[in-house]
Amino acid sequence: MSGRGGAEPLVMGIESSCDETGVGIVRGTELLAHALSSSMEEHVRFGGIVPEVASRAHLEAMVPTLEQAYAESGVRVQDVDAIAVTSGPGLTGALLVGVAAAKALALAHDKPLYGVNHLAAHVAVDQLEHGRFDRRVAALLVSGGHTELLLVDDIAGDITMLGQTIDDAAGEAFDKVARLLDLPYPGGPHIDRVARDGDPTAIRFPRGLTLPKYADDHRYDFSFSGVKSAVARHVEHERRMGRDVPVADIAASFQDAVCDVLTAKTIAACREHGIDTLIIGGGVAANTRLRAMAQERADAAGIEVRVPRIGLCTDNGAMVAALGAEVVRRGMEPSSLDLPVDSGLPVTQVVAS
Ligand code: KG4
Ligand code: ZN
Repeated sequence: MSGRGGAEPLVMGIESSCDETGVGIVRGTELLAHALSSSMEEHVRFGGIVPEVASRAHLEAMVPTLEQAYAESGVRVQDVDAIAVTSGPGLTGALLVGVAAAKALALAHDKPLYGVNHLAAHVAVDQLEHGRFDRRVAALLVSGGHTELLLVDDIAGDITMLGQTIDDAAGEAFDKVARLLDLPYPGGPHIDRVARDGDPTAIRFPRGLTLPKYADDHRYDFSFSGVKSAVARHVEHERRMGRDVPVADIAASFQDAVCDVLTAKTIAACREHGIDTLIIGGGVAANTRLRAMAQERADAAGIEVRVPRIGLCTDNGAMVAALGAEVVRRGMEPSSLDLPVDSGLPVTQVVAS
């Protein structure tokens, strides 16, 4: 810990905001444990995350996941300098499980407790892979639950939300369109796969919030419900005409529309704010087209793109530990043991009180 002769803090992080129970242990920016249990399989038959099912799965997975993290790292909770936990944003019932576990451990072992912001943690995790940020960065978070464009001046306390989705999250749009195309849930990887055989210019799907009239109010916001409805209308039309639905062309065209808007707005924001480092996180960061388009456009604008490996892009405990370590390193005040969960915790609040 910085207070102990400048050594890097040893921090445990607990994540339970959606369907992944994660426990990570880091020393500064070094990853020591990355234990994960997912309840995704239990949600597949419902075609989406069921909050009550997720909460119960967190309860069952919490202790085994903690044990796995201890075994991986050789670190016990007694050894850590602090315990960090996602206290928001996320599903209330799911968050409660992680926060209750973190409080119990903090109380039992007399450790400082830090309730931290899930979105900031998605950005902080990149430091485990690519080292500390030494300047202002932008971050695009895209998953089943997020579509946020952030400006990060200080990962532990100075983050601005430049834009976010006003309806569906990007991953949610992939999942809903996959369902329209009779592809399994979660749909993102399936769209990505079938799109490889399709023509991305076959159908011109709408690019949400890109018209000049949105340049002021929704400059960096996103909307994916329009493209989803356009796909639904297209599929319905093809069926009504008795034609085979051109799944590959629709998937490729839809994917291009989404990736076009995501990357165009993100690069424009980087240019406007003089940023030369972009981090992409969340499950949709696995998308081949998004990666290629972001790389191509960032290269043209002289921007470096940093994408953590996909296991760190999706929800996990290591990201919470990584953010916790930054917060501890700066000597910030811990949260209280009365720390509440906050399903709508704003990104401006990196540590909850
Ligand atoms: O971060 P994540 O694992 O979980 C949360 O939503 O928190 O993200 C899952 C989302 C799903 O919507 C899934 O369809 C999408 O990420 N996804 C993809 C790809 N892989 C996962 N979307 C597009 N292309 C992919 N290759
Ligand atoms: Zn997340």
